[in-house]
Amino acid sequence: MLAAQAPDSITMEVSREAFRNAMSVLAAAVNVVTTDGPAGRAGFTATAVCSVSDEPPSLLVCLNRSASVYETFCANGHLCVNTLTADQQALSNLFGGKTSMTERFATADWSTECTGAPLLDDALINFDCRITNRVAVGSHDILICEIVSIRQRECGDSLIYFQRSYCNAIQLMSAQHG
Ligand SMILES: Cc1cc2nc3c(=O)[nH]c(=O)nc-3n(C[C@H](O)[C@H](O)[C@H](O)COP(=O)(O)O)c2cc1C
Repeated sequence: MLAAQAPDSITMEVSREAFRNAMSVLAAAVNVVTTDGPAGRAGFTATAVCSVSDEPPSLLVCLNRSASVYETFCANGHLCVNTLTADQQALSNLFGGKTSMTERFATADWSTECTGAPLLDDALINFDCRITNRVAVGSHDILICEIVSIRQRECGDSLIYFQRSYCNAIQLMSAQHG
């Protein structure tokens, strides 16, 4: 049996900074979330993406209500979660920065499947989804998304955000196994 380790610190009144510091050690896949439709085309980088249920197949995306893309996603009612490969760091920065929508979409190739949301052609996985519910929590909306199609590459390495910088899944695995 493993011996219990004493924690290095315990924070009781959790500030915004303490929360952010704690979240920085949760390694997360990096996604570019996109939409297109009557309200226009938009996209942003997101790590707050998570599986919800396999029946119906669904996931959630947390979107800041103050983001410039917020109204566009709500009005279109559908989105695509494009999970990035290890070599797509520049795309993550473009969709995560204060860049225009034209610039964000200019450097990659896109196609459409069921909903009309842009699918990134070189992504590791594309989840084409309908937004079925929205729940407001603090500064963000949780978008509940029912997956209508999945396009997946045979193999590839995933881009990971960990301790406020980028690395990749194979690097993390080799660090763990020595
Ligand atoms: C690595 C990374 C992860 C991010 N994750 C999220 C997220 O999960 N949810 C979110 O609302 N914004 C997230 N952002 C911030 C948005 O991508 C960013 O606010 C947006 O693209 C810029 O918004 P603007 O159009 O309002 O300028 C993330 C940014 C980066 C660089």
